[in-house]
Amino acid sequence: MLTVQDLNVFYGPIQALHGLSLQVDAGEAVAVLGANGAGKSTLIKAIMGLVPPQSGAIRLDGQPIHRLPPWERTARGMALVPEGGRVFRDLTVEQNLRLGGFLRREAENRAQLERVYALFPVLAERRGQLAKTLSGGEQQMLAIGRALMAQPRLLLIDEVSMGLMPILVQKVFQVIDGLRQANVSILLVEQNAAAALEVVDRAYVLENGHLVLEGPAAELRQEPQVQAAYLGG
Ligand SMILES: Nc1ncnc2c1ncn2[C@@H]1O[C@H](COP(=O)(O)OP(=O)(O)O)[C@@H](O)[C@H]1O
Ligand SMILES: [Mg+2]
Repeated sequence: MLTVQDLNVFYGPIQALHGLSLQVDAGEAVAVLGANGAGKSTLIKAIMGLVPPQSGAIRLDGQPIHRLPPWERTARGMALVPEGGRVFRDLTVEQNLRLGGFLRREAENRAQLERVYALFPVLAERRGQLAKTLSGGEQQMLAIGRALMAQPRLLLIDEVSMGLMPILVQKVFQVIDGLRQANVSILLVEQNAAAALEVVDRAYVLENGHLVLEGPAAELRQEPQVQAAYLGG
């Protein structure tokens, strides 16, 4: 479904991604694991169209999308949960959610809103509250809910566990697992390798902008290099 081929991204003279290639098949959940500064957010932003690649190709359903603006990528079925669960702080919970569905019809949005509220009852209780009054974990759920309002086929998630209490990390990864069951393809980038490897089918390891390892999640969990660097083993 998503193919990234030989992607090179620079910030001025600094190369953040080096010839990176990966793929996500339909219905698959894939993680890119890496330490702080490895290039995870850069990868997600390049796929979504928020930073321009210097070279390489990004294809969705075989169609090149790397020259399309972000909103056209959204229209083709991709949605982003940005790092730190960024939400519009001075809008209400429901206004934030409705922004996520701006490309959809009102009737569809009403139905999808109810699904998101069923997934995150805490958002339903707080639908009229300003987003800035939510806790960090609730804002993270709102960011996921907002992305789901676009009814994406491919959900890109940047470091959803960051700054969350372990119990909320669990809850968020349960939701991700649920989305997978609902046939939403997922690409998530994470420092929290232990949590990510619980829910994904496959994973890649990113170091200093280079992919250095890839494999099924169960295999990577056993990999000494992964255990030493990311699983405290
Ligand atoms: N806007 C930017 N300008 C210059 N350098 C950046 C910018 N954003 C990220 N970088 C650099 O690119 C590298 C990868 O960053 P990033 O993709 O944010 O990593 P991660 O998300 O894995 O922590 C880092 O060395 C970072 O300092
Ligand atoms: Mg990041």
